[in-house]
Amino acid sequence: MRKTALTASVLLLSAILSVGCRSSAVSEPVKTNPPDRKTVTVGFSQLGAESDWRKSNTESMLEAFSAENGYTMIYKNGQQKQSNQVTALRMFIQQEVDYIVLAPETETGWDFVLREAKDADIPVIIVDRRVDVSDESLYCCWVGSDFELEGRKMASWLNQFVTKKGISASDVHIAHIQGTLGSTAQLGRTKGLEDAVREFGWDLVASESGDFTEVRGREVMASFLREHEDINVVYCENDNEAIGAIDAIEAAGRRVGSDIAKGEIMVVSFDGINAQAMSYLKEGKISCIAECNPLHGPRVQALIETLEDGRTPSKYNYVSETLFSSVPEIKSVAVDGIAYDVEIVE
Ligand code: AHR
Repeated sequence: MRKTALTASVLLLSAILSVGCRSSAVSEPVKTNPPDRKTVTVGFSQLGAESDWRKSNTESMLEAFSAENGYTMIYKNGQQKQSNQVTALRMFIQQEVDYIVLAPETETGWDFVLREAKDADIPVIIVDRRVDVSDESLYCCWVGSDFELEGRKMASWLNQFVTKKGISASDVHIAHIQGTLGSTAQLGRTKGLEDAVREFGWDLVASESGDFTEVRGREVMASFLREHEDINVVYCENDNEAIGAIDAIEAAGRRVGSDIAKGEIMVVSFDGINAQAMSYLKEGKISCIAECNPLHGPRVQALIETLEDGRTPSKYNYVSETLFSSVPEIKSVAVDGIAYDVEIVE
């Protein structure tokens, strides 16, 4: 029976970690049979519920760690506060859970509580964003997206777009709505853009955090439009911000779209899980979305099954992701000499 469980988990791990995400907006979680072992208790500290991505991520985790799959999950929503997440982790330690899964809001400030988990011999798995700690042995492994690569792919797409349209770099006036400052998703996507601004000579008009929410995306964009007349590209660090930004642009009497030579404001974004954003993509209101896949439940489950089998999973487990666009001319982008397909959505 043990051998069967081992074989099943090896297959599950390779299906999830090597194949990565499929090229649709939502890849399907891999199902597995409950293993032949005692129920495993997992404490999951989610950072909050700021976006549709986050809601899908939570659902994916709750589904993977169901009683049916042989787990007891203790779920805590951090309500966007690191102090709540630290309290949740301490509660999991007191409850002597078998594993802690942490989806951290920002990268820093985790050393003490992760040391407490290590001293209590509870393996910690980090999911989605990363932690920046002085000793990497404080957590067992991580699974999530390469956020900087997402940003670089988007920058490469934008560079191809303006080059093909014959728009000079100094005429590209970008407004930048950042995610939660200090989160890995913000740091990576911001770096991808800022490096490209320096490389290509684009005009970065303004940057401000929209906290990955629709409400803040709307507010930040409205204030950008009041202060800067020349904005023709908006780089939103997630789809919820993009939806808010589009509202603000239309409320200001401007048009969204890729025809920036004719006065439209082009919106680009990240995630690809929000139904309204995907329909905006089809309509051309959003020109490009870099996928960020939230369905980490089965991936974290595979890591725990590996640990349960007495094996050591890879420390860093990246999910492969695509780009979605309604602009048919750009079929692939290149980053560091590697080509990535763009999925054209009609
Ligand atoms: O960390 C992933 C990011 O967090 C997603 O892009 C965003 O939508 C979410 O809130």
